Amino acid sequence: MITMYDIIHNKREGKELSKDEIDFFVNGYVKDEIPDYQASALLMAIYFKGLSKKETFLLTDAMRCSGDIVDLSSIPGVKVDKHSTGGVGDKTTLIVGPLAASCGISVAKMSGRGLGFTGGTIDKLEAIPGFKTSITSQDFIKTVKTIGMSVIGQTAHIAPADKKLYALRDVTATVENIGLISGSIMSKKLAAGSDAIVLDVKCGSGAFMKDFESALILAEYMVEIGCNAGKKTAALITDMNQPLGYAVGNALEVKEAIEVLKNNGPKDLTELSLQLAAHMVYLGEKAATIEEAYQMVRNHLENGAALDKFSQFVKAQGGNNNVIDDYSILPAASFKLPVKAFQDGFIEKIHAESIGKAALLTGAGRKKKEDYIDLSAGIILNKKIGEKVSKGDILAEIHGNNLDSINEAEMIVKDAYSISHIKPMVEKLVKALVTINNVKIY
Ligand code: URA
Repeated sequence: MITMYDIIHNKREGKELSKDEIDFFVNGYVKDEIPDYQASALLMAIYFKGLSKKETFLLTDAMRCSGDIVDLSSIPGVKVDKHSTGGVGDKTTLIVGPLAASCGISVAKMSGRGLGFTGGTIDKLEAIPGFKTSITSQDFIKTVKTIGMSVIGQTAHIAPADKKLYALRDVTATVENIGLISGSIMSKKLAAGSDAIVLDVKCGSGAFMKDFESALILAEYMVEIGCNAGKKTAALITDMNQPLGYAVGNALEVKEAIEVLKNNGPKDLTELSLQLAAHMVYLGEKAATIEEAYQMVRNHLENGAALDKFSQFVKAQGGNNNVIDDYSILPAASFKLPVKAFQDGFIEKIHAESIGKAALLTGAGRKKKEDYIDLSAGIILNKKIGEKVSKGDILAEIHGNNLDSINEAEMIVKDAYSISHIKPMVEKLVKALVTINNVKIY
């Protein structure tokens, strides 16, 4: 007979769990037959002892099968999904979706809300007046068929085991584990029905994986899980040692994403979006090589086709697409507080996680799932790594509606910046491409 006590004990002793043990845990936890204290103990044992590749595959499959599997077969062509492991200022979905869709790819995407220091696409989209992220699955599919893309919130029926376990991991300090993250992300991706998946595995101070080696293992695990399930899967390992672009916070990020689509956005965000979209176009079989796909998405950025697609997408989901020409319809904060440089020199580091935490304090994120979110709040960075500053220059601007929180955030933002007299090396934005049995380091 399998018992939860034995499963916890086995993992604590570093043993490999069997399929029956993993299924017993996942199914029992979803059905509320296993209490949180036993699930937490097992998660902590996994955190310390790890999961083998075999255990990770079994966990992914058990969580994938815990709910509905979306059927996108009525949408013609290759459906391509994109997923980021979570970072600060990561608004790439708002750019990559329209870029890929404008090249003829069908993007049927389920996205999450922000939790903790990382943001979520659904909150960002809801900053656009009228935008609906909870539409029926019929409308979701119809929108993808007519305009090539749709983004909706993750339903409770997709991988419910992950939903419950992720909430528990979030409060028991057990998120940062390669097997658990792989299982969590891939169970949802496999259940969401797309044929191909492009993963953006973040690496650095603002990511769950702080170093390249762990990010590489995570990418390899996820690519193998995707390919074993018959989905074409590729992963880019990308830098998260500073926020992506300059804006952190929902309405602020929407504005920045639109600027990128106008080909007027920050270099790092534009380049990463082009590369991710190129991989989607390549996996979606709209180009024979990645280079050709890159040229295609670049053309669609430059000729306005991607911006046009974004406008159609916003309109199709009930949003006011005048936002493209009139940012004043986005929520705006009452207060803006500049954070000034404390010495001359070069920006050496910007601790991305701290910027995310400061944004959370302004109200741009939520500490608990049910928290209210202030869509206007956040942080606009004014200086990034490698830039020269003089004492008194503005490093960043904090946007919010509560002066006490803004003042608290100011201290965190100030501490997040390191200024040095030596010009630092800037990390490569895209560090590696991981495909099945192949790693290309850039
Ligand atoms: N995103 C997820 O969906 N799950 C994780 O475990 C980490 C990031």
